[in-house]
Amino acid sequence: MAEMKTEAANREKTILDYDTVALDDENSAVVIIDQTKLPGTLELISLKTAEEIWNAIYLLKVRGAPAIGVAAAYGIYVLAKGMPETDFETFFRGFQKQKDYLDSARPTAVNLSWALKRMERVCLAFRERPVGEIKTRLKEESIEIQQEDIRVCRAIGEYGLTLVKPGDGILTHCNAGKLAASRYGTATAPIYLGQERGYGFRVFADETRPLLQGARLTAYELKESGVDVTLICDNMSAMVMKNGWINGIFVGCDRVAANGDTANKIGTSVVAAVAKQYGVPFYVCAPTSTIDMDTPVGAEIRIEERSPKEVTDMWYETPMAPNGVKVFNPAFDVTDQELITAFVTEFGVVRPPFREGFEKLFLEKGKRK
Ligand code: MRU
Repeated sequence: MAEMKTEAANREKTILDYDTVALDDENSAVVIIDQTKLPGTLELISLKTAEEIWNAIYLLKVRGAPAIGVAAAYGIYVLAKGMPETDFETFFRGFQKQKDYLDSARPTAVNLSWALKRMERVCLAFRERPVGEIKTRLKEESIEIQQEDIRVCRAIGEYGLTLVKPGDGILTHCNAGKLAASRYGTATAPIYLGQERGYGFRVFADETRPLLQGARLTAYELKESGVDVTLICDNMSAMVMKNGWINGIFVGCDRVAANGDTANKIGTSVVAAVAKQYGVPFYVCAPTSTIDMDTPVGAEIRIEERSPKEVTDMWYETPMAPNGVKVFNPAFDVTDQELITAFVTEFGVVRPPFREGFEKLFLEKGKRK
């Protein structure tokens, strides 16, 4: 036993040994795996100030819709914890200032504002109680947000697994894995569960230009987990589908509109259009926290645009485009609902018409709470 422990301690740690986001309450910090350093370096960083948390989200050190939500929840708790124990109104003004600031880090993934609003509701629900108690409740809620995410991802995995069979080829885009959410990830949850049950999937990961989340993160975490994964460039997905190598596509999402239009990493809609052409089912793995019934259609989703340098310079020793060329760099696109075969949520698989399906789902969810 002692020998086994030493062996485990001596083994080089991998991302499988850590949570993507964790609370270090003793040191009043949010601890994250710095995803910008992967796959080369596995580095944990501690975030203590509002600026550190904001920057980590903006710079994609922590990224992926559910992980951003968890980081924001722990972040606002840590910031609230450091506030003086005044009267409620003064405390709440400070809380809201920090909440709005964190919420401004990235616009597209709804989980950021969803988690912060959930934390705000805790303050309001306990407004008659001393500020010290509100802080304790905020801690409990932030932990619950992460625990819930673990349960949700696992349930998505179970439902997703009903849509594929042993030996299938699965394609995924960007990273909706354990680095983007808790433990199982969302789009990777059926893959990891299938792996546990000996399904022997063959997974194809799009590299996902310009920030290479597919190559740096998805290929990395699947490979570390022993999944049969093949990395392809984004412009190769049509070929693997045409070759008949793909039986189903699982992707994540950043915001799903009430009609089913879905914002996800740039390039997702191309994959969906090609999938339709070749008759490959296209599944969006969506925790209900990412379904935004207040946004009626995809055209109303705000799409984040990022620095041209991500396209022209990043990853290269010298720029790979002429100096000063015009660049368009949206971080997400919206896949039209017509291209989506089904959504895989923690409550089950939702097929078209999606608006009706979501309404039923939220009704059901409300009953279970
Ligand atoms: O810009 P990113 O890396 O945060 O974009 C992430 C994605 O688009 C993911 O697919 C999405 O957030 C779902 S993660 C479970």
